[in-house]
This record gives sequence, structure tokens and C-alpha cells, in this order.
Amino acid sequence: MQKIRAAITAVAGWVPPDMVTNKDLEKMVDTNDEWIVSRTGIKERRILKGEGLGTSDIAAPAVKELLRKRGISAEEIDLLICATTTPDMLFPATANIICDKIGAKNAFGYDISAACSGFLFSLATAAKFVESGRYKKVVVVGADKMSSILNFKDRATCIIFGDGGGAVLLEPNTEGYGIQDEILASDGSGRAYLHQKAGGSIMPPTHETVEKELHYVYQEGQTVFKFAVKGMADVAAAIMERNNLKADDIAWLVPHQANKRIIDATAVRMGLSEEKVMINIQRYGNTTNGTLPLCLWEWESRLYKGDNIILAAFGGGFTWGAIYLKWAYGSK
Ligand code: UT7
Repeated sequence: MQKIRAAITAVAGWVPPDMVTNKDLEKMVDTNDEWIVSRTGIKERRILKGEGLGTSDIAAPAVKELLRKRGISAEEIDLLICATTTPDMLFPATANIICDKIGAKNAFGYDISAACSGFLFSLATAAKFVESGRYKKVVVVGADKMSSILNFKDRATCIIFGDGGGAVLLEPNTEGYGIQDEILASDGSGRAYLHQKAGGSIMPPTHETVEKELHYVYQEGQTVFKFAVKGMADVAAAIMERNNLKADDIAWLVPHQANKRIIDATAVRMGLSEEKVMINIQRYGNTTNGTLPLCLWEWESRLYKGDNIILAAFGGGFTWGAIYLKWAYGSK
């Protein structure tokens, strides 16, 4: 028997219905549609509105849809990993709240915090559980309510992010399909350039931290951009080389949707034409942990068994990485 690989067997996504366009943002901060589109590629993003709603309210409908598509019940899930930067609460884990909301009574769950690379890191982690042979149905959900930590008076950050998320189901595969390889990296010195200053143990929330607006995303965009362009392209090229993949061998690049210019640079480095690159940043902006599963969800009908797919991300931490997988279902 071939070794057990972890294969994605279903994918689903969910975005809130409320939309914020670049025109809407023009009324809030000194910006304009032309600048946002040319510098980022973003035209609109979704925002979760409603009292008492959090990231689990984005993740739970995505996971429910995932189960419906695969035709299994929530009780069959062994493990649920939630990748998020905007947990419902600092503790308990949002994964636990999602499991409660969907009725996954037999699952254990926890969160992974790796900013925009969180889904990628979680997928790699989840794969190990499946590859061990002990766990048969593992859900990885990446979701964020970025609007909960956005300063809608700061034009440098509020135009970039959006709310949304998606989920995949991993199951064992002994026919060679599924996750083949991963390269993951992090460098904590990058924390200076992208972080949320207050709310953690270094600076617990006080009246002063709120007054000084320290609970919002802080980003030095240009510096992050430089690291992201290099980091994402380097790691995508490295995973191709390590697996002897040429551009022609690759069906799709699934890139983190932070900036269209970062995605384009990665595709050029890999020698891929734009038709092989999943891009939906124009509609959702940067949903942080949601970007990769939202892409897979939207492109699912165009994915076929055996397709070589590269996922790549770069984000706060810094964290970055790439995963190479062979898609496990779908026929032409
Ligand atoms: O997903 C996690 C990882 N994050 C990323 O990968 C994000 C990486 N960074 C970026 O995507 C880009 O740096 C941004 C989109 C955030 C900013 O684009 P940029 O081309 O790096 O702009 P900049 O910060 O260098 O600003 C250029 C100019 C500045 O004006 P001056 O100083 O040249 O007069 C800014 O004040 O654009 C100005 N500016 C804006 N103008 C209109 C900054 N934000 C805006 C805005 N609208 N929203």
C-alpha cells in the first residue's frame, strides 16, 4: 500500500452579505478608487455586521456547507483546526466555539495563529494528523473578521482588509493524491512592521490603549511589501524546484490575496501566465486566513483530479510558506 497522504475532499466558503466598495471608503478617508485599484487590485470587500457576531459566525456556515457537500455529519469530524488572527475571544479557542455551533461533539479543536500564513500552516499541521493514520476526517477552517481590528480613519490599512473565510476537509488518500510537500518559515523580527499593539499580555487593554487607538492593525506597508514580494516568490520557486516541477506542470497557483502586485511578482517568478493564478482580491480584499480557502472554493469546479497546485502565502510575524498538493477529485 502507498503511504497515506492527506487529501482535500471538499471545500466551502462564506462571506458576509454586506459590501464596502472603494467609493464607500472615499467617504470615510482621504482615498480614491483609482489609487486603491492600481496599488492593491481591490475594488470591494465584505464586512460582517451585527451585534455579537464574530469570526466563528463566518467559519460555522462555511464548515456546515463543507459537511453538506461531502454528505457527512458534524459528529464524524475528528479534529477541527481554526486559523484566525481575529479570534472570537482571546480564549477559549474559536475552534471550540465553531465545534459547539455546528454540533461537532466528537472533535477536538484548537486555533493556529500565524497571521496571513495561518491557513497554510494549519493545513500542513492537519495533514500530519491524517498522515499518521489515526485521524480520518480533519477540518481546516481559515476565517477572519478583520473589520473588528480595523481603524476606519486610517487609509493605509482600512482599504486593504475584509471579512470572510473558508474550510477544507482532509481525508486519507493512498493513491498518491493530496499534500505532497511544504516549506514553512517564520521570522519574528518582522513583528515590528505588522501587528496589533494592545490587547495582549504586553499591553493589556486600558482606557488609555483605547484612546490611543492601539487595538487596530498597525502596518508599515512598504516594508511588508518588500519582504512579501521576495518571501512569497522565493518559497513558491523553491517548492517547484524541490519537486522538479516546471511551469507547464502546474495547473494553479493559489496565492494569499494581500496585494495584486505581490501575486503578479510570484507568478512571474514561477513562469506562470495569469490564467493559472487564482485572483479574487478585487471582490474580497485581504481576508487574512480566509484568502486561500476562498480561492479554492471559488475555483473548485475548475479543479481536476491530478492537478498540481501550489499554495503560497506571506504575512505578519513574519510568516510565509508554500504547499504543493495533487488535487484529489473532479473530472473533465
Ligand atoms: O497580508 C499580510 C501582508 N501584508 C501585505 O502583504 C501588504 C503589503 N503592502 C502593501 O500591499 C502596500 O504597501 C500598501 C497597499 C499597503 C500601500 O501601497 P504602497 O504602494 O506601498 O503605498 P505607500 O505606503 O508607499 O504610499 C504611497 C503614497 C503615500 O503618499 P506620499 O507620501 O507619496 O505623498 C501615502 O500617503 O500613497 C499614500 N497613500 C494613499 N493614498 C490614497 C497611502 N494609502 C493611501 C490610500 N489612498 N488609501
